[in-house]
Amino acid sequence: MGNSSFSLVFTFFTILQLLILPTSAETDSTTLSSLLTVKASLDPQDLILSSWSSNATDFCNGSFQGIACNENGQVVNISLQGKGLNGKIPPEIGLLKSLSGLYLHFNKLHGVVPKEIANLTELSDLYLNVNDISGEIPPELGNMSNLQVLQLCYNKLTGSIPTQLGSLGKLNVLALQYNQLSGAIPASLGDLVNLTRMDLSFNAFFGSIPVNLANSPKLEFLDIRNNTLSGNVPLALKRLNEGFQYANNSGLCGVGFSTLNVCTYSGTNPNKPEPFGPGSSRLPSKSIPESANIQSNSLNQSRRPQTAIVVGGIGLFAVLAVTGVFIFSWYRRQKQKIGSTYDASDSRLSTDQVKEVCRRSASPLISLEYSHGWDPLARGQIGNGFSQEVLESFMFNLDEVESATQYFSETNLLGKSSFSAIYKGMLRDGSVVAIKCISKSSCNSDEAEFLRGLKLLTSLKHENLLKLRGFCCSKGRGECFLIYDFVPNGNLLQYLDTKDGKGKVLEWPTRTSIIKGIARGIEYLHGNKGNKPALVHRNISAEKVFIDQHYHPMLSDCGLYKLLADDIIFSTLKGSAAMGYLAPEYTTTGRCTEKSDIYAFGMIIFQILSGKSQISQLNRQGAELGRTEDFMDANLKGNFRDSEAAKLGEIALLCTHEALNRRPTIEIVMQQLNDVICSS
Ligand SMILES: *[C@@H]1O[C@H](CO)[C@@H](O)[C@H](O)[C@H]1NC(C)=O
Ligand SMILES: *[C@@H]1O[C@H](CO)[C@@H](O)[C@H](O)[C@H]1NC(C)=O
Ligand SMILES: *[C@@H]1O[C@H](CO)[C@@H](O)[C@H](O)[C@H]1NC(C)=O
Ligand SMILES: *[C@@H]1O[C@H](CO)[C@@H](O)[C@H](O)[C@H]1NC(C)=O
Ligand SMILES: *[C@@H]1O[C@H](CO)[C@@H](O)[C@H](O)[C@H]1NC(C)=O
Ligand SMILES: *[C@@H]1O[C@H](CO)[C@@H](O)[C@H](O)[C@H]1NC(C)=O
Ligand SMILES: *[C@@H]1O[C@H](CO)[C@@H](O)[C@H](O)[C@H]1NC(C)=O
Repeated sequence: MGNSSFSLVFTFFTILQLLILPTSAETDSTTLSSLLTVKASLDPQDLILSSWSSNATDFCNGSFQGIACNENGQVVNISLQGKGLNGKIPPEIGLLKSLSGLYLHFNKLHGVVPKEIANLTELSDLYLNVNDISGEIPPELGNMSNLQVLQLCYNKLTGSIPTQLGSLGKLNVLALQYNQLSGAIPASLGDLVNLTRMDLSFNAFFGSIPVNLANSPKLEFLDIRNNTLSGNVPLALKRLNEGFQYANNSGLCGVGFSTLNVCTYSGTNPNKPEPFGPGSSRLPSKSIPESANIQSNSLNQSRRPQTAIVVGGIGLFAVLAVTGVFIFSWYRRQKQKIGSTYDASDSRLSTDQVKEVCRRSASPLISLEYSHGWDPLARGQIGNGFSQEVLESFMFNLDEVESATQYFSETNLLGKSSFSAIYKGMLRDGSVVAIKCISKSSCNSDEAEFLRGLKLLTSLKHENLLKLRGFCCSKGRGECFLIYDFVPNGNLLQYLDTKDGKGKVLEWPTRTSIIKGIARGIEYLHGNKGNKPALVHRNISAEKVFIDQHYHPMLSDCGLYKLLADDIIFSTLKGSAAMGYLAPEYTTTGRCTEKSDIYAFGMIIFQILSGKSQISQLNRQGAELGRTEDFMDANLKGNFRDSEAAKLGEIALLCTHEALNRRPTIEIVMQQLNDVICSS
């Protein structure tokens, strides 16, 4: 019985292998060669994509910079924004059929947009903005039925907008500003029922604004500044309020817009008055005269192409779904690797480029970026306990984050961990912040949990907790950002292990006040006052204690674990175990409690007293026997109160007691600290 079921299973897997392996191996080698062709063209000097190696066996394991694969080993995203790529986009990009996101913005790419890119029927996000791309927009792009975001702004594109783009039923954002495009705005763009933002500003478009574009149901933002548009502005655009920007088009006229003159329709004006008045919405859009194209000669005779419908994907999807189940556990590991090989993406931007990017980012126009942010915060979902008020005060645009950090310039990189990077940044109001970037794959994949975590973070307020200013999740970058106040004096780790003369030695009163401040922060966390629940920090260490300009301590990363994936939490705990902060019972119970926070706090007291990151047995014995010379920092040169020091040593010892029920609660620690330190 056992044997036969074994052989049955074995046969099953053999068949499965036969079915899957040959094709996937073949796919792998052709995909690899496509990737290498793409690399040779994007990065002709092989300066940036050296990780895309020809002898690699696995381009999905995180070793190829910027490549993300799905569970079937197909390349779904290429994220190489801001890398300083200076080649061209090759036609072979069209061979990477599974791509859903292509992010090549903020580079120096030249050449044209290859029409073969339209073979990427799965593509939803195409970001080629801020490059030096020239030539015309290929009409074939109209075949990309899954396209949601088309970012071509800040390039050198010429020609006119292909009418075929009107077939992009899912298109949400169309950004073409700052090119050299001309011709009329095709009336077919009015067919884009899902369009919310369109920016055509700073080009050379002429003719009038198509009425059915003005009636486009989801349109929220339309920028046509600095073109040579003329004629009647449809009244329907008035509903966009500030979302409609039309300055510097000398020929525009209309009623209802304060800066426009009423149209006069002299003989030379090419625009006939609308039969039912401007912007009438009673008309079905198809019957509206396409006045937009009157001036454009025969350039854009609005032929509406049939919307291309791609069905082949469905059968493929079924196969992939089955395969996906078998590869799931493997994928979890892969995802992990992608998450941990975080790279500070813009290390290769030259100074000039950074300046250029900054200059450009200063423009509000570029804010079309990533308008459909990472989904947890998408409009439909935010009901999830967030009040509108909280959301508005805490939610940042990716735009703000990018310009604050000068597009994640390496000069602003403060530090990196296995799952995050921290950048210094300056907000538009001039305040300085620290921005923690966490890869999406390191975040809790349960979106509801993630949102609850974010909400919790926004509710934490205490003078000894690092203040959260806001957050931002970017689908485009696959990252979540937490924006904190920047504190100028670094973290506590920087005041430990100072060699005499070098490094900063904290005075005794500063040390005692830091100890008390940390305790207050922990007391706040562990308590459930106000609208916050009792919370365990789980990862207290000297590195998490920041020191502000008044040398007040600020505990950081409070509640952060609520946002993270389990395996990331686990790996950070391994880190704190290595540093000696992890309470001994964790190894048997696997649980973090208030008492494990107390243990870590005890370690920190020892570190502050001794000025050392590593606590020795001698230090502990000294604390036990009240021999302050055995555990106090020699850098203090005896400048401390012996009685206070001895008492603090006792508290540290108690907090780090092996048995968790012998450790005091934070309230008791607080009382003892008040008794000890208030007398000074
Ligand atoms: C990925 O696979 C390659 C072999 O193709 C190996 O050299 C590399 O170390 C792997 N990288 C990771 C991050 O596992
Ligand atoms: C690819 O990018 C999209 C966003 O465009 C994201 O939703 C998806 O998770 C990414 N896929 C991988 C495997 O990183
Ligand atoms: C794109 O698809 C067309 C047919 O749909 C095919 O003829 C062409 O070779 C493809 N090009 C690339 C680069 O895949
Ligand atoms: C793609 O678009 C071009 C030009 O618009 C058209 O001629 C062609 O038939 C389309 N191809 C497919 C596969 O729909
Ligand atoms: C518009 O978007 C919705 C939601 O993504 C989608 O269901 C619908 O099919 C889109 N409309 C068209 C014409 O593609
Ligand atoms: C906008 O257009 C005007 C002419 O209408 C031109 O003088 C001006 O330089 C343009 N502004 C920019 C920023 O290009
Ligand atoms: C319009 O053009 C003038 C120069 O002619 C320029 O100073 C101004 O900034 C432009 N306005 C906008 C909104 O671009």
